[in-house]
Amino acid sequence: MTTSHRITLLAGDGIGPEITAVARQLLDAVSRRHGFTLIYDEQPMGGAAIEANGVPLPESTLEACRASEAVLLAAIGSPQYDKLPRQQRPETGLLGLRAGLGLFANLRPVKIVPALASASSLKPEVIDGVDLMVVRELTGGIYFGTPKGRVKTESGERGFNTMAYSDFEVDRIARVGFELARQRRGQLCSVDKANVLDVSQLWRERVEAIHGEAYGDVALSHLYVDNAAMQLVRAPKQFDVLLTGNLFGDILSDEAAMLSGSIGMLPSASLGEAGPGVFEPIHGSAPDIAGQDKANPMAMVLSAAMLLRIGLKQEAAAADLERAVDQVLAEGYRTGDLMQAGCTQLGCRAMGDQLQAALES
Ligand code: IPM
Ligand code: MG
Repeated sequence: MTTSHRITLLAGDGIGPEITAVARQLLDAVSRRHGFTLIYDEQPMGGAAIEANGVPLPESTLEACRASEAVLLAAIGSPQYDKLPRQQRPETGLLGLRAGLGLFANLRPVKIVPALASASSLKPEVIDGVDLMVVRELTGGIYFGTPKGRVKTESGERGFNTMAYSDFEVDRIARVGFELARQRRGQLCSVDKANVLDVSQLWRERVEAIHGEAYGDVALSHLYVDNAAMQLVRAPKQFDVLLTGNLFGDILSDEAAMLSGSIGMLPSASLGEAGPGVFEPIHGSAPDIAGQDKANPMAMVLSAAMLLRIGLKQEAAAADLERAVDQVLAEGYRTGDLMQAGCTQLGCRAMGDQLQAALES
């Protein structure tokens, strides 16, 4: 009997459907080669769900995700929804998905593809050999803290959010960071703002406590977030695992993504204690190029590879997809975001076909 896996596909908005089609084409091809079957359950999410169901994350979508082994999400959001009340915005659906599935750990690997070293805005010698992982806490911090809101006061209007972490939230994400560091180069740098914020003081204390309890073999260091932002562009090779909270991780992971030349290259995994993980590119829905066959599908294909490896334990298939991406880049094929003199520019669909050809070669 062949193994079959049920995965939920959330194509979302903007370029989402285009890159999802490519991911599906590649997943079909790679699963055929490795003798397992994928059963897809396509569900609406984000703006697409606002149109179909009136909410960005329908209960039926969340249920389908819970009932599957892993979730592949493309991208959500579009300027047309920016004026909607917060509860109805696509981004709120994404936060609801993270909270609803308990996905507290967000893994964002940044590895420089040699063929793209010159695509970065930084000097090749600065980024050559960069291989780091941002571990971002994803279900706490200022994204979810209360009180929050907007109030009218005598002196005008006031908006506020709360950055809060409980000890157990720091402990569990620290463990994820230390475990990963152990599998990699044994270094973990925790990023906070402990010189100013009480919440960061607790963060730092708990990271040190977990280190002392069980991870003495990992080299632990701390950086304030402003310095970490600077070090990431000054000397990114110094980092192995970067552990940080929700907001700092959001910002630093975009910064780290640009080391690779384009945010269109980077995948991510969001994982909980148990249950399905969500695998998605770091980039957004790029409404400016949606529907024009211009999107770079590689971050999505690499997210599908992470889904295969972490979500479905199909390591060989995951490695095959990653090899296909490397090969196509080495052969000089580029989407518009990465285009350089001497390369061949392809649209999203043609890039998908090229990736499939590389996979099957
Ligand atoms: C990300 C995105 C999201 C975030 C937005 C779309 C809510 O920027 O995944 O990094 O801020 O977490
Ligand atoms: Mg972000």
